Parts: sequence; structure tokens; C-alpha cells
Amino acid sequence: EQIEKGGYDHFMLKEIHEQPNAISDTYRGRLLADKGIIKMGSVDNNITKFLNAKRIIIVACGTSWHAGLVGEYLIEEFARIPVEVEYASEFRYRNPIISKDDIVIAISQSGETADTLAAIKLAKANGAFVFGICNVVGSSIARETNSGAYTHAGPEIGVASTKAFTTQITVLSLIALKLGNLKGELSNSKFNNYLQELKLIPSKVTEVLKINTEIEKIAAIYKDAPNCLYLGRGFNFPVALEGALKLKEISYIHAEGYPAAEMKHGPIALIDASMPVIVIATKKGHYEKVVSNIQEIKSRKGKIIAIVTKGDTVVKEIADHVIEIPETEEAFTPLLTTIPLQLLSYYIAVMRGCNVDQPRNLAKSVTVE
Ligand code: G6P
Repeated sequence: EQIEKGGYDHFMLKEIHEQPNAISDTYRGRLLADKGIIKMGSVDNNITKFLNAKRIIIVACGTSWHAGLVGEYLIEEFARIPVEVEYASEFRYRNPIISKDDIVIAISQSGETADTLAAIKLAKANGAFVFGICNVVGSSIARETNSGAYTHAGPEIGVASTKAFTTQITVLSLIALKLGNLKGELSNSKFNNYLQELKLIPSKVTEVLKINTEIEKIAAIYKDAPNCLYLGRGFNFPVALEGALKLKEISYIHAEGYPAAEMKHGPIALIDASMPVIVIATKKGHYEKVVSNIQEIKSRKGKIIAIVTKGDTVVKEIADHVIEIPETEEAFTPLLTTIPLQLLSYYIAVMRGCNVDQPRNLAKSVTVE
């Protein structure tokens, strides 16, 4: 097992560090930035269905559901196709309205989640075209879907999903950009700029991974917090949800993720000097508004850990801690902002003596209801 961990203390840490390569593997052969092309056989072969889709419904569970939410923002932004994101467990039992003009995208790392599989069967029975985004090759979901794209992240052993999440977002980015360009929503020049920027993501992830000692210090300060709040807006709202889920899963600290602007409708009541609040405040994503949320937290004495764009000076003045990420297109920031949140949860869990790779009561893949 030590050999399989490749010198890391835990599979989770290894998988966090594998992300630059995993993301490159996801777009290898697909993202042909120099030619200005995204090549995806499974999308190309069904392109009429995709271009004529009236609606895309994404079904998933857990972390994959969070990737689906990022997918909603990406597909609506670039391709202008309406997207709904559903928990597979709700979708399968609530008699959803599904038509032949709908595309259902099922996202699953393992490809074995029972609820997601049942949602796929229901969608197919109602005539929808079902596209899978899976990591495990030959899995039940990969076989059950009409078509699909693998994430090629490699085996994910840690129960808390890390590289599966970022590679799922990578596949969704490729699909959204490709459809956007083909539908004429994204001009060739904008499309090309996005491709060039996407190509730089793995090296930027590597850069973020280098700040792990800083994150370890922050973890040492907050490891005994009973609660934690995660805030983000736009593309980073799902990242806030995912950050909170990671902390809950492996450190057993109660954490909630919220869209930053919703703070005033509830969570603000919880903020006092003992409440760490992790805020994603990158430059382009509704920055000014998030800064005013940070001020509101500060005036209630909450402790602020902010994820900011490199060179930020405003948030640095107010926050207790800042973690810098390199600049990128706003739509791609989830691929970077997620990394420090994974590391923060990891270090907190280790410091609390938790079983990081196999947290209590959780399974890597939930194959029963
Ligand atoms: C379990 C795992 C999570 C995962 C979820 C969905 O809860 O512990 O890490 O996100 O299932 O799994 P899937 O394999 O369908 O992505």
C-alpha cells in the first residue's frame, strides 16, 4: 500500500497532487488548442442532438453533483442551452418531465452509484438521450448511457473525491466551449482564447499546490473549530459547497457552503469570533460584492480565510488569511480555487487524527439505496 501511495501519507494527498496530470490526461487528444479545435468523438457523433437540445438535465450525487452545478454555469454561459442540475435520488422518484429533446448528462466517478444509474434508466425510458461522464472505464453507468466521455483521471482511492471533481469539470468545460462555438455563441477568437487558457490550467494547479505549507499553518489554527462556513458566488458557488463537503466528510467538522449573497438570509446570524469563514473572492467573479460580504463578516468578528487572485490588495487588508491563486478566465477558476480547499480539509483532518482515506460511515461508491 505504501508503494501505491507513491510516497504520500494518504491516497487523498496523492490524488490532490495528481490533479495537474489528471487534468492534462482528461484533455489529451481532445483539446487541440493550436488547431483551435475541441475533438470529442462522443459529442461529435451526436452533434445534432446536442445542438438541437432544448434542455440539458444533469443528474449526479455528492461531489459529482457539485461538478454538475459548475457544468450548469459553464454550459449556460458558453452554449446558452438551459441546464437543470438534479440530485439523482430526487429525480428518479419525482416523476420528472423528460422529453426526446432533452439531453441527460449523468456524472459519476465510479459509474456505479445506484441512484444515478436508476435516473439514467428512467431518462432513457422516457426517450431522452443520455450522455455519461464517468471515470471508471466499463462501469455500469458507462455501459448504460447512450454515449459518453471518460474523465481519464486514473483510479481514485480516497473516499473524498478530489481529482475526479476537477476532471469532471474539465470535461464539462470542453463540452460547453465546443457547443458554444458550434452554436455561434462563442466567436472563433474568443473560443481560441479559452482554449489557450484551458491549456495553462495544469501548470497553474501546480503553482497552487506549492502553497501547501501556508495552508497547513491555517489548518493548525482552525482545526478545533466546531463549525465552518464556505462562501462563493457564480462559478465558485459550487466550489463553496464542495469545500464544505470535503471538510465534513473527512474531519467531521460541521460545515456549510452558501452562495455569498445568501449569507444575509441566515448564516450571518451564526457569525462570531469563533466562526471561520472561507470566502472565494477571485477578481472577476462579482468581486466588489464579495468584498462587501467580507466586510460584513469582519464587522461581526468572524475569522476570514479568503481565496483571492494573485496580487490582490483589497482583501488582504481585511482578511485574517489570504490564499492566492493565479489569474485565469473566471469560468475556469473552480479548477484552481478547489485545490486550496481540498488541502485545507486534508490537513485539518490529519491534525484531528481522522482516517482521511476512509472516513467513518462513508463509502467510495454507494451501490445500494
Ligand atoms: C459517495 C462518495 C463521494 C461521491 C458520491 C458520488 O458519496 O463518497 O465521494 O461524490 O458517492 O459518487 P460517484 O461515483 O457517482 O461520483
